[in-house]
Amino acid sequence: MKNAFVKNILCIGAGYVGGPTMAMIAYKCPQYKVTVVDINHERIAQWNSDLLPVYEPGLGEIVGAVRGRNLFFDTDIDRCIKEASIIFVAVNTPTKVFGAGAGMAADLQYWEKTARQIREAAGSPKIVIEKCTIPVKTALAMERILTSKEGSVSFDVISNPEFLAEGTAMRDLEFPDRVLIGSRETAQGIRARREIADIYANWVPKERIIESNIWSSELSKLVANAFLAQRISSINAVSALCEKTDADVQEVARAIGLDSRLGSKFLNASVGFGGSCFKKDILNLVYLCRSYGLNEVADYWESVVKINEYQKDRFVLTMLSAMFNTLAGKKIALFGFAFKADTGDTRETPALYVAKSIVEERAELVITDPQALRNAMADLDGVDNITYEIDPYKAAAGCDAIALMTEWKLYTGLDYERIYASMMKPAFIFDGRNVLDRKRLFEIGFNVFSIGKTPMVHV
Ligand code: UDX
Repeated sequence: MKNAFVKNILCIGAGYVGGPTMAMIAYKCPQYKVTVVDINHERIAQWNSDLLPVYEPGLGEIVGAVRGRNLFFDTDIDRCIKEASIIFVAVNTPTKVFGAGAGMAADLQYWEKTARQIREAAGSPKIVIEKCTIPVKTALAMERILTSKEGSVSFDVISNPEFLAEGTAMRDLEFPDRVLIGSRETAQGIRARREIADIYANWVPKERIIESNIWSSELSKLVANAFLAQRISSINAVSALCEKTDADVQEVARAIGLDSRLGSKFLNASVGFGGSCFKKDILNLVYLCRSYGLNEVADYWESVVKINEYQKDRFVLTMLSAMFNTLAGKKIALFGFAFKADTGDTRETPALYVAKSIVEERAELVITDPQALRNAMADLDGVDNITYEIDPYKAAAGCDAIALMTEWKLYTGLDYERIYASMMKPAFIFDGRNVLDRKRLFEIGFNVFSIGKTPMVHV
């Protein structure tokens, strides 16, 4: 029986981007059949279960409402390619760990395999959309692979970068600041991008759906992330100066954020930014600039990453010097391990650097996090002297210090008197996110260290 849906949309890659994005499209567009496939069968099974492989506030409800109605998770990639007219590609493009550009360029092997698979299985014309962050001009490579076979069907390659942030993915998808769709500027390319715009027009206001040439679209994604990360590195650089001069970085951020040209968002000084995008995208940008011989431009953007490394390092050095220049034999609790609140994702989390440094100083580490313990254990596999504890009270008991890594709401509401009573003395707290009530903590008896503020110490 032919299905009654007006369009078959497929997404290849069932990760942080593919899963939530397709769930939102299916939810907003009941007239389309949306299928998500992945080479990882276990992940597809999880998407079909009650325990989704991605934690994202609101995601479970939306998947629950549309799964089996017009959202399907499948493992038969070839059949699904054949049946779809629109194919989103959301496979991962991690940083290369080998060969030319290792540690900087994107590893495009999964992405290229996917392109070849689409070419082989297609059978009829398709619109293929890059959703993952990949360096500029890869759409061209995608087009070459797709059309490199004699008598192959026609493909339109579209760039539609994803701007959602983890932890707020569902809100970002439902109310995006903008949706960007890039294509070749031929009549056929423009027709194809309009077709993708029509999908979003089901719930996104028209003026927020913008079209551009394909290179602008690809580059915009890297540049947006580079600008966002640059704000954090800028305020983090200022935080170091504040600590030396008795200025308070939050007061400075508030004052500059009220300048409407600057705006108030993304000015929270922290132990450093993490996540799968910022470092990767900036390094891609740097690599791109270098490959065009633009070394000064490359250096400029690379410094955003350097300040981030410096900030993490500075955090550990502050702990070390505050605790009498030795952590050996001391016990330290990390509050939070995820790269930010409301996610279990630990990719590039600053907590990993801090954890490893503390263990290298021969301290004993206890890690607590409401969502990220499983990932933390995998990240720190083989590292000794670490225990994992879901309950923050138990994690802190008997410790000399707490280092807050992730701004989970949970940590601001704890009974710190009870925690203080259970700790070794003198007790230290290092707030890597500036979310705790430092005055109150100091009154309780803690020695309090924040980012970009004068320390509050009893001795
Ligand atoms: C980011 C972009 O925001 C998103 O548009 C893009 O599609 C993917 O990359 P994400 O990595 O999910 O999203 O998280 P984001 O909220 O941007 O935070 C990144 C890191 O910066 C986190 O570690 C966060 O804690 C940190 N951060 C953010 C700060 O340290 N200070 C701030 O003011 C804001």
